[in-house]
Amino acid sequence: MPMHPVTNRYWTYGCGERIVDRMNGAAAAAAPGAPGLHPPTLRDVLAAQVRLDGLVVRTPAGRYPELDAAAGTAVVVKHENLQHTGAFKVRGALNLLLGFDAPARARGIVAYSTGNHAQALAYAARHTGTGCTIVMPERPNPVKERAVRALGARVVLHGATFDDARAHAQDLAARSGARLVGAANEPALVAGVATATFELLQQAPDLDVLVVPVGGGSGAAAACLVTRALAPHVQVVGVQSAASPAAHDSWAAGELVTRPNATRAEGLAVGTGFALTQQVMRAALADFLLVSDDAIAAAQRAYLTGARTVAEGAGAAALAAVLTHPDRFAGRTVGVVCSGGNAAEAELVRALRA
Ligand SMILES: Cc1ncc(COP(=O)(O)O)c(C=O)c1O
Repeated sequence: MPMHPVTNRYWTYGCGERIVDRMNGAAAAAAPGAPGLHPPTLRDVLAAQVRLDGLVVRTPAGRYPELDAAAGTAVVVKHENLQHTGAFKVRGALNLLLGFDAPARARGIVAYSTGNHAQALAYAARHTGTGCTIVMPERPNPVKERAVRALGARVVLHGATFDDARAHAQDLAARSGARLVGAANEPALVAGVATATFELLQQAPDLDVLVVPVGGGSGAAAACLVTRALAPHVQVVGVQSAASPAAHDSWAAGELVTRPNATRAEGLAVGTGFALTQQVMRAALADFLLVSDDAIAAAQRAYLTGARTVAEGAGAAALAAVLTHPDRFAGRTVGVVCSGGNAAEAELVRALRA
């Protein structure tokens, strides 16, 4: 099979910086309450590693002959679907909240999310004794709502859309003094999430490529930071659903853009680019691929039947990219981040029919 090496944009950093300066200014204005938009350093990642020791699962890195055969190359699966709360996000949430002092914990946090970000924050808030309010649009997915309530967070249902919920969360934070925690412009979240890549490089030192699903971009930015510092030969490839391509298009355009947001994969359902994660991805991401929602469902089925593991849509996107673009990855040892396993029943039924 012919080999098409992915483009490595790492060395274009000088030109990327100017674009990023522009993007940061825009996002700082657009994201009030976000802390300084400086990417974490390797030192921050190592500090997170120490902080999280014993609190998160050192998730396995699995090899499966069926997946190798389907992909036509060696595939290493990083099983963040087996992480506490069923997704990688808890690494970032714990890292953020463990860094709070007593007054900050007393003031608490507010977030708007229906998905794994909410569950991760609720989990970390319970662990650290931090007050946690999650704003969701009215009529949320009842499974996710129950999970967040079961973790002890206060759930506020507000508005018909996600934008309504966000505005209400911002308002609540402004009135209460609680810290509004976004999903992407948060260096401590990125540093915590980066511990998954740090683990994977030790578990699979022969990786050539690491494929990461992208919504807001914390996971991909984290993978870029760690590989650039410790294993610059590993190319990081981002993946997004073609039905929600805002991060991909922001990366390609060199500025933050908004795009239609229609993917079924909840964790990838983001309609805009974020400055912090785009800054890192612009500098270090080797390539960014789009996959269809149907390809994601087929990858969920491949996980179920080939690896006997449950992936939600976002969790299967990296494998979907490898299965969709076999020529691009042929002859390489490819890490795929299976970032979450919180699939609804109907989603799994659809995947098995894919
Ligand atoms: C399972 C899963 N995978 C991937 C993502 C995308 O992560 P990020 O927003 O850090 O790009 C999310 C986001 O919530 C997720 O829940």
